[in-house]
Amino acid sequence: MTCEIHVGGIYKLPFPFTDLSAQKARPALALSEPDEHGDVRFAFITTSVPNDLASALALEPSHFEGAPLPFQSFLRFEKTLLLHESIVLKPLVQLTQKTMGAIFRRLILAQIPAFYQSQHGATPFQPGASVLHYAGRVFDEKEIGNLVDASLDFFLTTNRYAEQFESEFAEYFGVSDALLVNSGSSANLVALTALTSTKLGDRRLMPGDEVITVAAGFPSTVAPMVQNQLVPVFVDVNLGDYTAIAERLADAVGPKTRAIMMAHTMGVPFDLDAVMALVKQHNLWLIEDNCDALGSRYHGQLTGTFGHLATVSFYPAHHITMGEGGCVITNDSMLAQIARSLRDWGRDCYCAGGESNTCGKRFSQQFGTLPYGYDHKYVYSHLGYNLKVTDMQAAVGCAQFAKLDQFVAQRKANFQKLTELLAPYQDRLILPQATEHADPSWFGFVITVRPDAGFTRNEITRYLEANRIETRNLFAGNLLRHPAFANITHRVVGDLTNTDVITNNTFFIGVYPGIGEGHLAYIQHVFARFMQGERT
Ligand SMILES: Cc1ncc(COP(=O)(O)O)c(C=O)c1O
Repeated sequence: MTCEIHVGGIYKLPFPFTDLSAQKARPALALSEPDEHGDVRFAFITTSVPNDLASALALEPSHFEGAPLPFQSFLRFEKTLLLHESIVLKPLVQLTQKTMGAIFRRLILAQIPAFYQSQHGATPFQPGASVLHYAGRVFDEKEIGNLVDASLDFFLTTNRYAEQFESEFAEYFGVSDALLVNSGSSANLVALTALTSTKLGDRRLMPGDEVITVAAGFPSTVAPMVQNQLVPVFVDVNLGDYTAIAERLADAVGPKTRAIMMAHTMGVPFDLDAVMALVKQHNLWLIEDNCDALGSRYHGQLTGTFGHLATVSFYPAHHITMGEGGCVITNDSMLAQIARSLRDWGRDCYCAGGESNTCGKRFSQQFGTLPYGYDHKYVYSHLGYNLKVTDMQAAVGCAQFAKLDQFVAQRKANFQKLTELLAPYQDRLILPQATEHADPSWFGFVITVRPDAGFTRNEITRYLEANRIETRNLFAGNLLRHPAFANITHRVVGDLTNTDVITNNTFFIGVYPGIGEGHLAYIQHVFARFMQGERT
């Protein structure tokens, strides 16, 4: 050994590297310290321009600690050799720590496509043997690459990927703010609680105020109402599109009605013409639970952009995923500030992570009886939570968001195909349909078994499940029949007849982008057998 070898050092080695008697010498970069046998991993450096620049780094003067190599050189970082330290002739130059960070990152990320192929690559669908899921993550090496990239930053809390996602997502909706939270349920909690903020003065929701909604849906659309001592007012829904019956909405408005909050169920926009008319007429707040409807449009406009606030879920069953994740979107900067405060412990300060004194008054404000100039960072104006995501989740979301248009198109195509395949059974099944003016980004294919079908919902779902086609109920069915909601203070407008039909007779199967031609043909085949009377 002629010198000590350290990571990031460029050393002169005999070439070919294994031939100690060779005359030629070449530089190579140490990618490791010598191991217990004295072996070091070196990467090849060349002066010839590589064909594949994606796996090479053109070394610039700024990459070097001190003097650079005398010739324009390229690091072929994927061409590595394990060599004994005794082969080294002499040290030449040193790359900076930052450059080494970038090189290691590329080395690690370069492994991911092969890993993805070997561990998560497509497996052929085997009818009757493979589970045909109702929903699922659809991803490739890009999501894993982003996830690893974010983990290498080791920032852990929100950072560059969260910033990128929030800014791209807000731009997609054409709104001022998109706030990442850790789930769609958290998004619902934040969105509705925001409307109770004292910062809204007289417009804020007070305990006992009523919020119009539906009982056929997901519990965390309604739970925040109860949690905020508001009173949910339930209206029935249409069978087929599963959204609120428009006339019932008008009937539901009473002297205490202050808001409407409901979901575009299964991706189907509710009657926004009717809802927006009520919002205007009665000066109501509107929150769109857009968790199941990312990419849906009404009169060509994206759902989520009609209300004062909207929510999105990134749970794996949804249109795009972060594992766990959600988003609150709004075009109102005051609501955004309140929502951010609720998400971030209830604090009054709205500086981004790692920033200070954005308001310029960090130590010069009076809050209540706190001493004058109490650090704004630690002043709390709301009873808040910590509902933030990590940058790893956001990183996955960024890769998913890039695929949204393709996912939505695939969902629509699958929906169309299922409608054609199941059309022959409309005498026994109510097939899903969009509301007028709507262009849904479908969440699932919802089916209601007609009362005179000759079979029950549970009989058909049991048969489908036995044949490995996953089914799900339309979430809670009638929420009021669940233990958690049975005793809540509420009002029902008219009756919930269809909501109860949904509880008994409705289910859905998947349309997600993991479903292709083979799956659809199998679904057709299994439905046909069931309709011919097969039960086991
Ligand atoms: C309409 C609706 N709202 C809210 C949620 C909650 O989302 P998350 O699971 O991310 O909490 C869901 C979940 O599927 C949903 O379907």
